[in-house]
Amino acid sequence: MEKLEIIGRKKLSGTISISGSKNATLPILAATILTNKKILIKNIPIVRDVETMVALLNTIGSTVKLNKKKKTIEILNKKKLKTLAPYSLVKTMRAGVLVLGPLLAKYGSAKVSLPGGCSIGSRPIDLHLNALKKMGAKINVKNGYIIASAKNGLKGSLIKFPKISVGATQNILIASCFSKGKTKIRNCASEPEVQDLIYFLRKLGCKIYQIGKRSLDVEGIVNLKPCVHKVIFDRIEAGTYIIAAALTNGRLKIKNIDPKIISTEINLLNKMKVKIIRKKNYIIVTSAKKIGAIKVDTRPYPGFPTDLQAQIMVLMTQSEDISTIRENIFENRFMHVSELRRMGANIEVVGNRAKIYGGRQLNGAELMATDLRASVSLVLAGLAAKEKTVINRIYHLDRGYEQIEKKLSACGASIRRLK
Ligand code: UD1
Repeated sequence: MEKLEIIGRKKLSGTISISGSKNATLPILAATILTNKKILIKNIPIVRDVETMVALLNTIGSTVKLNKKKKTIEILNKKKLKTLAPYSLVKTMRAGVLVLGPLLAKYGSAKVSLPGGCSIGSRPIDLHLNALKKMGAKINVKNGYIIASAKNGLKGSLIKFPKISVGATQNILIASCFSKGKTKIRNCASEPEVQDLIYFLRKLGCKIYQIGKRSLDVEGIVNLKPCVHKVIFDRIEAGTYIIAAALTNGRLKIKNIDPKIISTEINLLNKMKVKIIRKKNYIIVTSAKKIGAIKVDTRPYPGFPTDLQAQIMVLMTQSEDISTIRENIFENRFMHVSELRRMGANIEVVGNRAKIYGGRQLNGAELMATDLRASVSLVLAGLAAKEKTVINRIYHLDRGYEQIEKKLSACGASIRRLK
């Protein structure tokens, strides 16, 4: 099994180009199920989850060409697609469930493997299923599969989500574009990846009206247009590298981003005394000698993202004082804490709250990665730690970070993959 070896305490300096967003690419790929026109998607991150979604689309009969060099995907659905999304593909990536809405809307039936549990929490899909039922679908869960049908297609309806969910918003939004009549979706997620999906769907000709910050109205249509779309930048990758610069007291230019989209993160890091100069499509990060302590609550966008919680915790271990985190999105997202403690961090966890005592030198250790964002937090800890860190089970990292060792070593990090 591959590992990463990091020799820490090297100052990072140089430029990092941020890739396209994985979390924007996955729902856009699922949405292509709706159309048989030619689609070209640019700025694709070459990461495992995207490859899994491409494999899933190919399995159901879509013709998907991933050009890794150009970072593009071309899609043309020449024939009727199959409506079975197998366990072997959905088990490794929860976003596989995003094919449920489009398959059901377009073909009137779908059999999609239940995504199952996950190390960061139980991650149910009740919001997706209840909304589809409201739109007229009959749904049974049997032998680990969601078996759904809507013989006469899905019907426009009023969907009020009891809780904000990125995936449920995306699934229902895509489905409603191909449903009969008008769907009103309320209490939607407003993450930039949902916005990017809206831009993409509008290019296909879908009629989506943003009524308020968390309200969308959608008029279903059947004739879609071909389109070219460039995926938005990965804001979590950008945040991760800002923290890497701050942790190593380095200086990084982070380009191909829109700083406005990550202003919550930038403002918060400013409070930690990390200096960030904002330009139109890049930022320059220089760290303060001393990192300030802060209090962070994870929230849906525009709040602080749960996907950056593990990374900011590493920076907090290097601050002058005590910081706190309240994780409000997932119930079990402190898996990285025990590994950080093994490196010398002093962190107390009670329920969804963590108290991080700053001013502790991290020491290199052999570690185990548990989920995508926890894995990258261990990479960050390794960059800040004295001596050698070895991270096992890095396949999690490869699900969502494009060429992380290459990007970091080009800026002076000592990091290599052991096969
Ligand atoms: C997406 C992101 C993930 C991010 C998360 C929250 C992708 C591919 N993944 O995941 O990286 O961490 O948003 O920003 O974009 N919930 C329910 N019932 C449901 C659905 C969700 O109770 O049917 C709960 C979840 O358990 C969680 C909360 O709602 O507590 C938010 O989850 P959700 O926004 O749906 O996350 P994902 O879309 O799975």
